[in-house]
Amino acid sequence: MGISDPVIDEQTPAADFTIEQRWERYTDEEHQVWDTLYHRQIEMLQNRAVEEFHAGLGLLDLGAGGIPDLNVINPKLRELTGWTVVMVPHLVPDEVFFEHLANRRFPSGRFIRKPDQLDYLEEPDIFHDIFGHVPMLTLPVFADYMQAYGQGGLRAQSLGRLKELARLYWYTVEFGLIQRPEGLRIYGAGIVSSAGETPFSLESDSPNRIGFDLERVMRTDYKIDDFQQLYIVIESFQQLLDATQQDFTPLYQALSADTSRYSLTDLQSTDTVLQRGTQSHATGR
Ligand code: PHE
Ligand code: FE
Repeated sequence: MGISDPVIDEQTPAADFTIEQRWERYTDEEHQVWDTLYHRQIEMLQNRAVEEFHAGLGLLDLGAGGIPDLNVINPKLRELTGWTVVMVPHLVPDEVFFEHLANRRFPSGRFIRKPDQLDYLEEPDIFHDIFGHVPMLTLPVFADYMQAYGQGGLRAQSLGRLKELARLYWYTVEFGLIQRPEGLRIYGAGIVSSAGETPFSLESDSPNRIGFDLERVMRTDYKIDDFQQLYIVIESFQQLLDATQQDFTPLYQALSADTSRYSLTDLQSTDTVLQRGTQSHATGR
């Protein structure tokens, strides 16, 4: 499993699964992969990513050249919102992940994809984790949402509701879109770190795009191995934070009382439809 990285393999993770980055051990080739991906995405994300994402890249100077050094970016991030980035070997158990988020630590992979795998990822690497996720953590309202999500994750786990809560993460943190006066913009990390999905998410007529509704999201499955067939559009980051401040216990109860779930492609009469997708991408027609 995973891409081999000797600097990971030589370490014994701490109890919270963290390892050291050992930044000086990255090779020139690895730094070049970062630079190639960075420049490609920056071009693509002009007028596509939300302004706050671009601002975050600048605040942390993530385009300084090469893979970011945590010793350099963490003091800046801590100063801005109290978050830090920690390194983990590969994917970590759910409760470890939530525990880090609840304490304003974002777990990032250390390894970077190989030069011949720029568009292929079997698990999140440091480009996805840092370029994709960390700029939004400079925004106070989003920083608060991510911490609340970690706390909510620990609760959901004890209540057996992880599957539903994971959908919220998927449709917001990973694949979220936001409505801006100048048009739709991307804030989801899974999109901003993908050259293919960046234009697809905004411009393709294939996927459905609907307004945010918490219960709707929690009843809707997702696919991990292709572009999304459904995107959820928020009106503001405050909307997201406000909608998730409530105690989810009644919602979780409703979800277990009525177990109906929505298919990926069906629109509901209660949906705020921004685009009714053709689903041509999924069906190949
Ligand atoms: N309010 C949620 C709960 O009661 C926690 C949560 C906050 C979950 C933000 C996701 C995002 O469980
Ligand atoms: Fe991610």
